[in-house]
Amino acid sequence: MTAELATGTGLERIDVMRPWLGEQEVAAVAAVLRSGWVAQGPKVAEFEAAFARRQHAPYARAVSSCTTALHLALLTAGVRRGDDVVVPSFSFVATANAATYVGARPVFADVDATTGNLTAATVERALTRRTRAVVVVDQGGVPVDLDEVRSLCDPLGIVVVEDGACAAGSTYRGLPVGAGAEVAAWSFHPRKVLTTGEGGMLTTRHQAWAERARLLREHAMSVSAADRHASLLAPPEQYTEVGFNFRMTDLQAAVGLVQLDRLTEVVRRRRELAATYAAALADVPGLRPVADPAYGESNFQSYWVEVQRGYPLDRETLMAALAAAGISARRGIMAIHRQPAYADAGLRPGALPVTERLTDHTLILPLFHELGEAEQARVIDVLRRAGRRS
Ligand SMILES: Cc1ncc(COP(=O)(O)O)c(C=O)c1O
Repeated sequence: MTAELATGTGLERIDVMRPWLGEQEVAAVAAVLRSGWVAQGPKVAEFEAAFARRQHAPYARAVSSCTTALHLALLTAGVRRGDDVVVPSFSFVATANAATYVGARPVFADVDATTGNLTAATVERALTRRTRAVVVVDQGGVPVDLDEVRSLCDPLGIVVVEDGACAAGSTYRGLPVGAGAEVAAWSFHPRKVLTTGEGGMLTTRHQAWAERARLLREHAMSVSAADRHASLLAPPEQYTEVGFNFRMTDLQAAVGLVQLDRLTEVVRRRRELAATYAAALADVPGLRPVADPAYGESNFQSYWVEVQRGYPLDRETLMAALAAAGISARRGIMAIHRQPAYADAGLRPGALPVTERLTDHTLILPLFHELGEAEQARVIDVLRRAGRRS
């Protein structure tokens, strides 16, 4: 990718994220185009099988996004109108929207200050008589302590759905994140470590849930479009319930297969860059970088730092200082309960104190596969110089 100058600075712009795409992806897409089958077909099936293997998941179903995967996850888990679904507010809005789509009420829980994730304690405080499911998120790639949340929820018959949108390549207790989930959802948006342009995946350990997800993503049609095409005398199809078009295309899946092959290498590089940031910022008072929890390893999909009181600048002024140096950082993860769309949750300021603190005081630093040493040194230089009290 050609370097772009940051407006008004004369400096090469450093983005917060750049997807790592190359000639292999171009060749994979060209091969699909030449094959004449560009919609959901053999490449999608191949990508599903490869992803299931990589994630230690018995079943995988490719879909159009993580948002649609979450929607299907809740439907297949039996969540419906009148149910409550506990979700973190500290997440992208899609986590809560999925509950709303199925007619359930998202109930916002607070997160742990170190990981930014739900814990059994924060979930327990949000449970109601109607809680049918909990959606845990591996926020920014940091694994959630799934076993802990499941030991609270399993005996109560509450389904734990894992929103692994950010977490392909992260590990939990030595296994890929999501391996222990009843059902998990994944994102392949370009902001994530593995991209198909747009795209998502649902993984599950339940054959029946996988089967229903397969049907629902394709209009609940009893014979798939690919099977109909394969037979000369197409069998009549039935629409068994009201389904959706949540399909992934073979063009996307072909890109996904190439990206999946590179996942280990991408995560190794991201962890190396994260370690460089951590070492360089260790003696800067008031900047707390995200770190691995004791029980797992992050892919550092989002490398955030919390700007605390001991730092001379607040988050907004630090972001402005970075921008003046041609560096694009991002405000940290949103707090969904503060958005107009969820005003009816009726949560007052201070209701979710950790979420609100992290949302207001964190920023995400540039971290991507091709981030060069000199570029990272420029980011570090701004953070360290701004951190010196004048
Ligand atoms: C935690 C989380 N869940 C869900 C999503 C939605 O993913 P997609 O854009 O693939 O629908 C995102 C995207 O940023 C996310 O970060």
